[in-house]
Amino acid sequence: MRFSYSLLFVLCASLWVVSATRVYLELEQSVGPHSRSGWRVVRRCFPHDFVTLTFALKLQNVETLERNFWDISTPGSVRYRQHMSLADVQALTAPGEEARRGVEAWLRGVGVDVGGACRATGDFLECLVSCRTAEQLLDTRFFRYENEYNETVMRADKLYSVTSDVSPFLDFVGGTHRFPSRRLSPHFSSPKGLFVTPSVLRRQYNVSDNVGNVDSNKQCVAQFLNQHFSELDLKEFFLLYGESFTHKNSVDKVIGPDSGLSGGEASLDVEYIMSLGANISTWFWSTPGLHDHQEPFLEWIIAVGNTSDAPNVISVSYGDDEDSLSVSYMERINQEFMKQGVRGISILFASGDSGAGCKDDTVFVPNFPTSSPYVTSVGGTEFSGVFSNGEVGNYISGGGFSNVFSCPGYQQIAVQNFLNSSKHLPDAKFFNKTGRAYPDISALSDGFLVIADLLPTIAAGTSCASPTVAGIVALVNDRLLHAGKPVLGFLNPLLYQHQDAMNDITDGCNGGCEGTGFCSQSGWDPVTGNGVPNFPAFLKAALSV
Ligand SMILES: *[C@@H]1O[C@H](CO)[C@@H](O)[C@H](O)[C@H]1NC(C)=O
Ligand SMILES: *[C@@H]1O[C@H](CO)[C@@H](O)[C@H](O)[C@H]1NC(C)=O
Ligand SMILES: *[C@@H]1O[C@H](CO)[C@@H](O)[C@H](O)[C@H]1NC(C)=O
Ligand SMILES: *[C@@H]1O[C@H](CO)[C@@H](O)[C@H](O)[C@H]1NC(C)=O
Ligand SMILES: *[C@@H]1O[C@H](CO)[C@@H](O)[C@H](O)[C@H]1NC(C)=O
Ligand SMILES: *[C@@H]1O[C@H](CO)[C@@H](O)[C@H](O)[C@H]1NC(C)=O
Repeated sequence: MRFSYSLLFVLCASLWVVSATRVYLELEQSVGPHSRSGWRVVRRCFPHDFVTLTFALKLQNVETLERNFWDISTPGSVRYRQHMSLADVQALTAPGEEARRGVEAWLRGVGVDVGGACRATGDFLECLVSCRTAEQLLDTRFFRYENEYNETVMRADKLYSVTSDVSPFLDFVGGTHRFPSRRLSPHFSSPKGLFVTPSVLRRQYNVSDNVGNVDSNKQCVAQFLNQHFSELDLKEFFLLYGESFTHKNSVDKVIGPDSGLSGGEASLDVEYIMSLGANISTWFWSTPGLHDHQEPFLEWIIAVGNTSDAPNVISVSYGDDEDSLSVSYMERINQEFMKQGVRGISILFASGDSGAGCKDDTVFVPNFPTSSPYVTSVGGTEFSGVFSNGEVGNYISGGGFSNVFSCPGYQQIAVQNFLNSSKHLPDAKFFNKTGRAYPDISALSDGFLVIADLLPTIAAGTSCASPTVAGIVALVNDRLLHAGKPVLGFLNPLLYQHQDAMNDITDGCNGGCEGTGFCSQSGWDPVTGNGVPNFPAFLKAALSV
């Protein structure tokens, strides 16, 4: 009797434990106001406040996706550049019915009206729920945060968890912890060398009078956080600096809000991608305005993955410290990059403006997504002197080694060569020599003349370099399309197999701990990558494979 009573008790207790087991999906994600400087707590959320939760449903066949990604982007493979359509990608990777139903049942269990409050975009489920429901669902607490621009977001102050029966269906839940994407803002200062205009870049990278002439070719700049450009600025820019080459005078498609004052950052991107990728159709792709509950970068990547006619070249100037993000989040974002890569989309990320970075004087700080093995990272150079057109690595150029992703095959020899021969290798305690190393390519990043709000300003930073390289890649695509060949898609295996497509940059160090990070040298290096583009050589490499 006694025995069976205690057995019953144990059984009940264990049942209770099982049904209440919760799983943390993003254990290493930094949370709370200290995870992102510039944000402070205003108040606990009210029960009737709303938050948008984005459920990243696990993809199917991720290994096949990855195998396709490498086959399609590696010269020499029989499937090189045999790109897939969005429908093919969705057929391969879309989450199973079981996952969708499981997550929906869990949501209904706490009273979410899935039909009315949720929207399925591609492989994500976005739901607008009350703050109390979100807290109950995720076992956390939401607070309102504000920054110096009076922008507000609703975020959780401790790690969220989900029940163990739905955890196998989910990679992460967005809208809970990450603060809005940080733009790599160009700084506005006088350059050390010559001013940079479109004709300077076109000459420097041997573009000469090449412009696009294939109607279907498209290029794109991505923006987050209320960044706008103005058609008037663009017109004035081309009046001043566009005389020597044929170009378009306007952006063909604007996605997202575009109102209010133009920002120097958006103007920079549009003006320069349209000057190198001249006469090529350009999209300006921004995310919906900043609402309390959104995670703008995530919104953006979801939208790209849900657009069948997305441009083939996309330049992005945005990044976060790698150590502020969870591995499950970054791995899922990598899968999203692979989904775009197999479709033939080249995604370029500015490598960051903090050199190798430094935390507490003890360790370098890599930047994500530029540290992803599945995107092309673009570093920065500058003119070597006042009257020189030689280039050296820019001190600010983001570069180094990921602590999360290991060195992908395409760069192993190049990186080994660097590690074996660098005369200025930082102490091993600062970085992880087995990690994915970046940048992959670079371009000038100082002294760019930009028209913003009708006034000329001078911009610097790797956010100058990324649209510059992107425009040249779009021009190479144009020639490929003209020849009836498929576009480049994910670039890196080609860039490392054909280092002659770029002019090597061999001088200049970036910043890091104790003042210095890495130094540029002959061959690949973590300041300037494989070097700066040389259009005729790049085109030749692209046509040869
Ligand atoms: C994009 O998402 C919507 C749902 O919001 C869906 O109806 C549509 O089919 C998707 N488009 C593509 C190309 O997947
Ligand atoms: C933010 O709001 C405060 C008070 O409402 C106001 O004084 C301040 O000028 C605002 N700051 C900005 C950047 O709009
Ligand atoms: C541009 O091309 C010419 C030959 O056409 C070559 O001599 C020169 O080195 C190239 N310039 C750059 C920056 O690659
Ligand atoms: C510009 O592109 C259009 C196609 O979009 C093409 O018809 C035209 O010839 C191009 N202009 C030049 C100068 O190549
Ligand atoms: C170094 O990078 C590897 C992946 O390349 C990773 O497994 C390891 O944890 C990293 N070490 C540190 C100290 O971050
Ligand atoms: C670099 O050095 C390591 C160890 O000394 C050696 O195994 C490797 O082959 C070298 N790699 C290159 C590319 O020189």
